Amino acid sequence: MTDNKKRILTGDRPTGSLHLGHYVGSLANRVKLQEQYESYIIIADVQALTTHWEKDENLARDIFQITTDYLAAGLNPELSTIFVQSMIPEIHELTMYFSMYTSVNVLRHNPTVKSEAAQHGFTDLTYGFLGYPVSQAADISIFKADLVPVGEDQIPHIELARKIVRRFNDLYKPVLIEPKELVGDVPRLIGLDGKAKMSKSLNNAIFLVDTPEEVKQKVWNSVTDPSRIRKTDPGHPDVCTVYEYHKVFNKDEVAELEDSCRKGEIGCVNCKKKLTNKINELLDPMRERRQKYINNPSLVKDILMAGTEKAHSVAKETMVEVRDAMKINYFDVL
Ligand code: TRP
Repeated sequence: MTDNKKRILTGDRPTGSLHLGHYVGSLANRVKLQEQYESYIIIADVQALTTHWEKDENLARDIFQITTDYLAAGLNPELSTIFVQSMIPEIHELTMYFSMYTSVNVLRHNPTVKSEAAQHGFTDLTYGFLGYPVSQAADISIFKADLVPVGEDQIPHIELARKIVRRFNDLYKPVLIEPKELVGDVPRLIGLDGKAKMSKSLNNAIFLVDTPEEVKQKVWNSVTDPSRIRKTDPGHPDVCTVYEYHKVFNKDEVAELEDSCRKGEIGCVNCKKKLTNKINELLDPMRERRQKYINNPSLVKDILMAGTEKAHSVAKETMVEVRDAMKINYFDVL
């Protein structure tokens, strides 16, 4: 390690453009954490195949897009090593070794695996899907990450990673680090339709790449208190999406807005205008940073290749220790 900073590793499956839900839920935190930790960001393209194995045609585009979103959001390639999972074959090797002693029943009872299987309508789980938490344990431990910043749904995976590492260290030699989850207390951002969560597939998202005009249109069409017809009708912020967003994006004014809404003093049009401005103020610096990469897309590829190369050399070093620990080093000892 270059210095004594603790190492974090986190990442995403590349499934298209990132939206405000991603920003609020994880990206903003990663931008902060990179100042304090040695930071690795994995673009988990192989993990994406566990649910999308027959739809591989968009992977290159999605990887490019997510990297551009990361950079636009403020991840600094000097501080965060951004890399592509499939380009590090040692991860798959470690996954295989881990899978020798990981119980199928433990995987089948993993609550996140269960809920994702249900969500995708999988009944007969594939080997790759059932085993993806094992692969995720390898993603994390091959980089000897101390901390894994994730949302709550990922906690079972980090717990499993910790157990897998502990077992490895007991069985063979203590060469890997037991990772811990780092869970922020960020509320899940609801969709523009007021439902569930912001998500690309639900078509209720504001993307980081949206133009100021698109943001305006989307906020304009978002759902407010349905019982409010005239501006002077008292509003009910608790059932209003725009109010939920003010809580997140306009902390300074939200209390005042809530009060004037309840009193029927501020109308929805005005309230939406204020929100549009706040969201565009947040996105403006990202638009500015993005422009550089739009003008010169090969910069994105260069950053990704450099990050992948650096990550690969770390992974290779760990695997030498892993193979030694497992005595899979025949040509050194024969
Ligand atoms: N499972 C994570 C998700 O769906 C993505 C991921 C893959 C990940 N490997 C990881 C997250 C390692 C943290 C650490 O969002």
